[in-house]
Amino acid sequence: MNATAAVAAAVVPAAGRGERLGPGAPKALRELGGVPLLVHAVRALTRSRAVGLVVVAAPADGVAEVVALLDSHGLEDKDIRVVAGGSTRQESVRLGLAAIPAEVGIVLVHDAARPLVPVEVVDAVASAVRAGAEAVVPAVPLADTVKRVEPVPGGPEPVLDTPDRATLRAVQTPQGFRRDTLAEVHAKALAEESTAEGAAGTALPPVTDDAGLVERFGGRVVVVPGHEEAFKVTRPLDLVLAEAVLARRRAADAY
Ligand code: CTP
Ligand code: MG
Repeated sequence: MNATAAVAAAVVPAAGRGERLGPGAPKALRELGGVPLLVHAVRALTRSRAVGLVVVAAPADGVAEVVALLDSHGLEDKDIRVVAGGSTRQESVRLGLAAIPAEVGIVLVHDAARPLVPVEVVDAVASAVRAGAEAVVPAVPLADTVKRVEPVPGGPEPVLDTPDRATLRAVQTPQGFRRDTLAEVHAKALAEESTAEGAAGTALPPVTDDAGLVERFGGRVVVVPGHEEAFKVTRPLDLVLAEAVLARRRAADAY
């Protein structure tokens, strides 16, 4: 394996609107401790020696703004590329992946909305791929008991069953992949979308992460330990929690 193949590239989907966070700028550009979420997320990746290149999939009308933002936050000396993202997370990842040089053999995909992922998680995911796994996800056990229901808007919703919590994991990012595996499943998903069967949606549930695509097409995905601070900023309360975590880090001078 040559040096380039051993260093991973990271794709950062950052083109979402952040509707669940409420009105305002696109989520990746919202601030946490005075710094945009995206900048936190990119810094977390560049801190890892396993990552040699970061490709950001920015809101399609915000590419120039994102380039300027990364430069103004001291990231101008890092190997970072910015491309226009798409209308779904999957499309944004696919567009980011297409901008990675052919010789890069390992790709991590990390949500801009997970600004506080510790570098240890990034390193652990990259090493598991380097050690031979084709797809790796960091995950944590669940605190809540989970029930499957028959969805009824407004409820009450009949409960179908209660999966054994010990076998459940909440998955985070960065998820890590052999580059050929990730490119192949994204290409297959795109091809499927354009066929009548795909559009009609067989009984399959929607795929919400990249590892889910690998599973869907028969690949093998493994889980490594994630971290509670790698949570996704989705709703307003998550931003409150993220501010508290950041304040604690700054107070501990670990930042
Ligand atoms: N994402 C993206 N392109 C899209 C949609 C989402 O790159 N068309 C990115 C988001 O920017 C985010 C990550 O995918 O970093 C995870 O998505 P999510 O948390 O759902 O973010 P949003 O889609 O922005 O939020 P919401 O669903 O509340 O609108
Ligand atoms: Mg979304």
